[in-house]
Amino acid sequence: MEFMETIKVTKAATSKLREVDFNNLGFGRYFTDHMLMAKYQDGRWQAPEILPYGPICFDPAMATLHYGQSIFEGVKAFRMQDGRSAIFRPYENLKRFNRSAHRMEMPEISEDIFIGGMRKLLQMEDKWIPHEVEHAMYIRPFMFGTNELLGVMPSSSYLFMIILSPVGPYYAAPMRIQVEEKYVRAVEGGIGRAKTAGNYAASLHPFAIAQKNGFDQILWTDAHEHKYVQECGTINIFFLVDGRLITPSLANGTILEGVTRDSVIKVARDIGIPVEERNISILELIEAHQAGLFTEAFGTGTAATISKVQEIRYKDRSLLFEPLQFKLADTLKAKLTGIRDGIEPDVHNWMLPVFE
Ligand code: COI
Repeated sequence: MEFMETIKVTKAATSKLREVDFNNLGFGRYFTDHMLMAKYQDGRWQAPEILPYGPICFDPAMATLHYGQSIFEGVKAFRMQDGRSAIFRPYENLKRFNRSAHRMEMPEISEDIFIGGMRKLLQMEDKWIPHEVEHAMYIRPFMFGTNELLGVMPSSSYLFMIILSPVGPYYAAPMRIQVEEKYVRAVEGGIGRAKTAGNYAASLHPFAIAQKNGFDQILWTDAHEHKYVQECGTINIFFLVDGRLITPSLANGTILEGVTRDSVIKVARDIGIPVEERNISILELIEAHQAGLFTEAFGTGTAATISKVQEIRYKDRSLLFEPLQFKLADTLKAKLTGIRDGIEPDVHNWMLPVFE
């Protein structure tokens, strides 16, 4: 890609790579040597640059600090079995990023900057892409308004950045999740569909309560009746009921349009599993569980990949599962991992090589 060659690069004086314990990465704790930055000003994107990773300095009146005009993405690059590296479905993240930008009244970003910038940065940091099983390079593109002005209005200047973090699995063990009945993540017409900072900030208090009660996650429900399930904050949710894979529909704009969610739906259909995207009530899940028909529950996300659920708590009732017996979750995870590792055929053309 010609554009990539035009990106100005300032190299870090030394590399931190040797200081990183790749067997104990956790999630989002380590960052590579470089980062990408592009400024939006005077109504257009300026040429992006790659710089040594480091702090950035802003005026205390910077708009985003006060009004939260900020969006982000989560993408992963994988080390394939033949040693090459590839990015998983980054064009889907680009599309979602621009949908989030639209909802938050921010400028769209070009494919050149988003995809070209990401590839160029990954090419420079290729040695950082982990070889360990279930590890990956987590790619975090983000954008925020940089106006220095306290009026509530869309910023006229923005910063787009990409940082890279080698990561291990996000959830180490099967999750225990609590159905949320007091707080709300999103309502029709709100910002639930956008990957914007405020959605995550708003989840922290209810999440802290759930954690105090011993749960790993919240299962959000609809804002009107707390009757229909939505998602779990960092993951979309799937249930296997009577041989059918069901997941909340995207139709009313209250849940995140997960790239892993979409991939799981496609892979499930590829192997002949019926998938339904629709409204799912807690009552339906309880009844199916009582009848012995509800056999698997798992979450999907870029960070979390496919994470099994061992318990769903609703009021004083627990729906318990046996994650070690989950055949479908294991099959779907193996298929996705196979595609990412380059050992299953990439029939949907999902992997974008880091190098040409
Ligand atoms: C992701 O899965 O990429 C996410 O954005 C979830 C999260 C870690 C905030």
